[in-house]
Amino acid sequence: MFYPFARSLMFACDAERAHNLALGTLKRCAHSPLAMAWRQDVPARPVTVAGIQFDNPVGLAAGLDKNADCIDAFGQMGFGFIEVGTVTPRPQAGNDKPRIFRLPKAEAIINRMGFNNKGVDYLVHNVKQASYQGVLGINIGKNKDTPNEQGKDDYVHCMRKVYPHASYITVNISSPNTPGLRELQYGDALDELLQTVRNEQLDLQAQYDKYVPVFVKIAPDMDQAEVQQVALALLRNKMDGAIATNTTLARTGVEGMKHAEEAGGLSGLPVQQKSTEVLQQLRQAVGKDFPLIGVGGIVDAASAQAKLAAGANLLQCYTGFIYRGPALVKTIVDSL
Ligand SMILES: Cc1cc2nc3c(=O)[nH]c(=O)nc-3n(C[C@H](O)[C@H](O)[C@H](O)COP(=O)(O)O)c2cc1C
Repeated sequence: MFYPFARSLMFACDAERAHNLALGTLKRCAHSPLAMAWRQDVPARPVTVAGIQFDNPVGLAAGLDKNADCIDAFGQMGFGFIEVGTVTPRPQAGNDKPRIFRLPKAEAIINRMGFNNKGVDYLVHNVKQASYQGVLGINIGKNKDTPNEQGKDDYVHCMRKVYPHASYITVNISSPNTPGLRELQYGDALDELLQTVRNEQLDLQAQYDKYVPVFVKIAPDMDQAEVQQVALALLRNKMDGAIATNTTLARTGVEGMKHAEEAGGLSGLPVQQKSTEVLQQLRQAVGKDFPLIGVGGIVDAASAQAKLAAGANLLQCYTGFIYRGPALVKTIVDSL
């Protein structure tokens, strides 16, 4: 099969170099015969969430295609939706390299990318060029050098740019790699941000005569009381859904492994349990009708089913996809 071979080549390289090579190939070859290597048909498992119709509930998580360079290729792999970004108002380089590490024994990744991206205008240009017709989420954040007090302005700036092009917008306040970002998940800072986002959403709805749902992406590093607080803020400010979860700062499950002590967010198998717990707590707190996307450690059909059992309406994967390739999408959809 194609992916095991491609993976062995990529895993022989530095992780970020492999990532860039892979994305470059997907971008250049999406409309060439080479696309046969990753194109696959998956069965239709239609689902409607937050008023959006999805062909199937398995999506690509944010951070893999930060600049929306490869939407067409990911669409060809059969994802039911694609989330691009995190994008910030201005381009930024991110943290110094190396900043992404594989931990193959744990089927995990540690990254401290730091929202490296080419800025929202570049992303919108790419989205306009793409021929993908499926559901597209656009995940937005703030620039590193924007103080938290002005963080709201960065989210509003991005919302205005992406609104006409997005099926939904994700407000990312849970990356561990932008100093202070996660403070926006708590107390007055959270309410202020969500209120601003909600007001902007309603203004843009009137302007474009189109309602684009807004989801909020949260961290797994919260206790039950904190999850409860976030849930109340989501409901109070009429958010349309939530995504649980981003990467973790914990190192449970990778102790003693090479790279385990690198700074950054841990993803993949080791975050699965914690992430599912947070999802379940969130489901309890928001009630049965609030849209939730489960992400964190989905590596096979069983882990996908566990997220659904914990209350997810939709699923996303990143690290599992790196380790298992496009077949993961089909395996999960087939199992539904
Ligand atoms: C290298 C890397 C970069 C990521 N970048 C982003 C990002 O820019 N924005 C975001 O919301 N999540 C980002 N994530 C988090 C993933 O979207 C996902 O929430 C997390 O990795 C847990 O899912 P997984 O175990 O399937 O990887 C990133 C993850 C990885 C591994």
